[in-house]
Amino acid sequence: MSIIYTKARKHNIQGILDLIQPYVEAGAVLPRTTRDIMDHLDNFFVAKVIKDGQTIEERSKIVGCVALRDFGDGLEEIRTLCVHADYAGQGVASHLIDMCFDLAIGRDSKEIFALSLRPTVFMRKGFHTVAMNQLPDKVWKDDEVSSPDEKAVILATRDSYLPE
Ligand SMILES: CC(C)(COP(=O)(O)OP(=O)(O)OC[C@H]1O[C@@H](n2cnc3c(N)ncnc32)[C@H](O)[C@@H]1OP(=O)(O)O)[C@@H](O)C(=O)NCCC(=O)NCCS
Repeated sequence: MSIIYTKARKHNIQGILDLIQPYVEAGAVLPRTTRDIMDHLDNFFVAKVIKDGQTIEERSKIVGCVALRDFGDGLEEIRTLCVHADYAGQGVASHLIDMCFDLAIGRDSKEIFALSLRPTVFMRKGFHTVAMNQLPDKVWKDDEVSSPDEKAVILATRDSYLPE
C-alpha cells in the first residue's frame, strides 16, 4: 500500500465530501459544499491510498484532504484538514500541511493560521498558539471561519515554513 499526494481534481470532490462528513458532524471542521470546493479546487490537496490489485475506483479513495485559503495581505488559512481514521498517525496530516507550506511559499505568503481542536499536529510543524487579536478583524468577520470558542488559534510565520 502506498499513499500518494496530489492537487485535488474535480473527480475527487465527492471523496473529499465523504471524508470530511464525520468530522463536520463532530464539529471539528466546517461543512463544505460541492460548489465551494469546485470554486477553490486549486487550493485543495488530497491523499489517496493505492493498494495492489484494487480497481480504479478504489484507487481514487481519498483518505486525506486539506485546503489553503488566501486571505490577502500575505495571510493564509489551513482549513478542512482531515485524515480518515484508518490512516491516522502515519504522518498524512503532516504531509498535507507540508503541501500547504509549499503553496504558501509559492504565493509569497507571510503567515498561515489555523483553528483546530488538534493543535499538536500543527505545533509539530512550527505553529504556535496566539490570541485572537493577533489575527486581523477581517478573519473573525468572515462567515467561513470557524468560531474560535473551543478551538486553538494557531499561527506559523514564514520563517517557520521556509525550507532550511
Ligand atoms: C487532526 C488530524 C488531521 C491528524 O491527522 P493524522 O494524519 O493522524 O496526523 P499525523 O499522522 O500527521 O499526526 C498525528 C500524530 O501521529 C504522529 N505521527 C506522525 N507520523 C507518524 C508515523 N509515521 N508513525 C506514527 N505516528 C506518526 C504524530 O506525532 C502525531 O502525534 P500527535 O497527535 O501527538 O500530534 C486527524 O486526526 C483528523 O482528521 N481529525 C479530525 C479533523 C480535524 O480536527 N482537523 C484539524 C482541524 S483544521
